[in-house]
Amino acid sequence: MTEAEKELRYNALKTIRDGLVKASNAPLFKYRTENKYFPVIGEGAHDAKIMFVGEAPGETEAKTGRPFCGAAGKFLDVMLDSIGMDRTTVYITNLVKDRPPGNRDPLPEEIAYYSPLLLEQIEIIKPRSIVTLGRYSMAFLMNHFGLGNQLQSISKIHGQVFHVKDRDMAIVTLYHPAVALYNGGMRETLLKDFAVLKQFLGDEFPEELFEKSSVVSAQSDDEDAPSGPVALDLPKKELLPEQTTLF
Ligand code: URA
Repeated sequence: MTEAEKELRYNALKTIRDGLVKASNAPLFKYRTENKYFPVIGEGAHDAKIMFVGEAPGETEAKTGRPFCGAAGKFLDVMLDSIGMDRTTVYITNLVKDRPPGNRDPLPEEIAYYSPLLLEQIEIIKPRSIVTLGRYSMAFLMNHFGLGNQLQSISKIHGQVFHVKDRDMAIVTLYHPAVALYNGGMRETLLKDFAVLKQFLGDEFPEELFEKSSVVSAQSDDEDAPSGPVALDLPKKELLPEQTTLF
């Protein structure tokens, strides 16, 4: 990436951050400010080849402004390490940018409000693969990118790679990492699914992967594990004001 492109991306992401910080019309703005939470925009490389999209920040994330920095995030770090990556080489964000009260599922109006910000982030970063973590980001992004007809429950399509036909981009549907926290048996499934991402680390988009079909299946077993966030009882952390600049 050239210096000019770097600056362009930085400024575009900063604009998203600055806009959301003062967006008093955001559905979770009141809850955020009353609780002295931060919006969680995203973190990582602005030219990442892989972008991870979770559901919404939990309490630890809202207190620090960092995505996936609680217990589920620790397992995400383990999975990244398993393919030789870390947070500095990928970009991590969420569908909903503010914490829903009590870690409840996001409401349709919250997804409607925050998802355009995610779509802007995708256009800025231009990842080669978008990894959905959990069923909300999976459903939203598959529908948005014209893959709605292939959408099934996450227990059916976890670990699959879908080709977004009109661009060199894939959507990889993974379980939410929190699943491994309340069902230890799922750790291996998550790690196995994660290995599919190795194919997106090269310099070129792996077009040949999709020559026969628009879907590459890494996994076709049928566990019926729940997906999505869990209410995590996480240790309280100090506020880190400098983290609010993250985006
Ligand atoms: N769960 C999510 O979906 N996102 C986070 O940032 C943290 C936990």
